[in-house]
Amino acid sequence: MLIETRNIFKIYDEGLESEVRALDDVSLTIDRGEFVAIIGQSGSGKSTLMNMLGCLDIPTRGDYILHGTNVKDLSDNELSRIRNKEIGFIFQQYNLIASLTVQENVELPLIYQGIDAEKRSRMAMEALEKMSIAEKAKSYPKQLSGGQQQRVAIARAISAKPSIIMADEPTGALDSKTGHDILGFLRQFHEEGTTVILITHDNGIAASADRRVRISDGKIVEDTGPVIKYPKAAEKKAAEAEANSHEEAAKAAQEAMKAAAKMEEELL
Ligand SMILES: Nc1ncnc2c1ncn2[C@@H]1O[C@H](COP(=O)(O)OP(=O)(O)OP(=O)(O)O)[C@@H](O)[C@H]1O
Ligand SMILES: [Mg+2]
Repeated sequence: MLIETRNIFKIYDEGLESEVRALDDVSLTIDRGEFVAIIGQSGSGKSTLMNMLGCLDIPTRGDYILHGTNVKDLSDNELSRIRNKEIGFIFQQYNLIASLTVQENVELPLIYQGIDAEKRSRMAMEALEKMSIAEKAKSYPKQLSGGQQQRVAIARAISAKPSIIMADEPTGALDSKTGHDILGFLRQFHEEGTTVILITHDNGIAASADRRVRISDGKIVEDTGPVIKYPKAAEKKAAEAEANSHEEAAKAAQEAMKAAAKMEEELL
């Protein structure tokens, strides 16, 4: 299983009169290759749930098992490494950095992964081309329309080739035609094997997904159940993720050896 929450709670102001159960005993599993919409009204706990699934926040109680690893057992460093490598995030307000060019924004997740400048530039341009916005590589976010900014934000989300995409109301700030185009991209990534988790309050948008999980007052109140439409593509994506983690482990081992050699040198 790719994602598994076991009875997770997120409680603000626990025990006080102002207590809020943003997540209230949520158990949810999501398999590789699914396209899941999480639906619910404003304040129902959707973003809180996405933050948990994306390792941006930790539950008050309960366990989150990502890829067989209990997130509790990971250090902050390991958590951000998994997050950077495995998950691409898309937000309603794009969250692009105003002082960086389009290309620099898209390169950010690659910098965090320690990828060298030449490869970074290549991967960023590839992602921008995929989103049909490569001609704006040298522009700044404020020179683009909302739809174009969201395409750049999506290019940033996919530049490191994550196996999971989490999108929190990605079409919320866009007109319906542009929103439709954005959904089309998500569907395309899904067909390529990416696991897509789409958060929305809009039933029409949720209809694009293969599975709908409805949340109300922090509880799951409806779940249409898992569907994997493109199992071959999902398998391929899983194999790529596995290969990447080997590459990463090899790199880490190499670095550890270098550090050890340097220490030895210093001792001599
Ligand atoms: N830092 C916080 N402190 C206290 N309460 C919070 C905090 N963050 C969120 N909440 C509460 O948790 C509940 C769930 O919030 P969340 O942002 O997950 O809702 P949402 O479903 O994403 O809503 P929206 O559709 O408006 O984005 C809300 O009642 C909210 O007020
Ligand atoms: Mg929200």
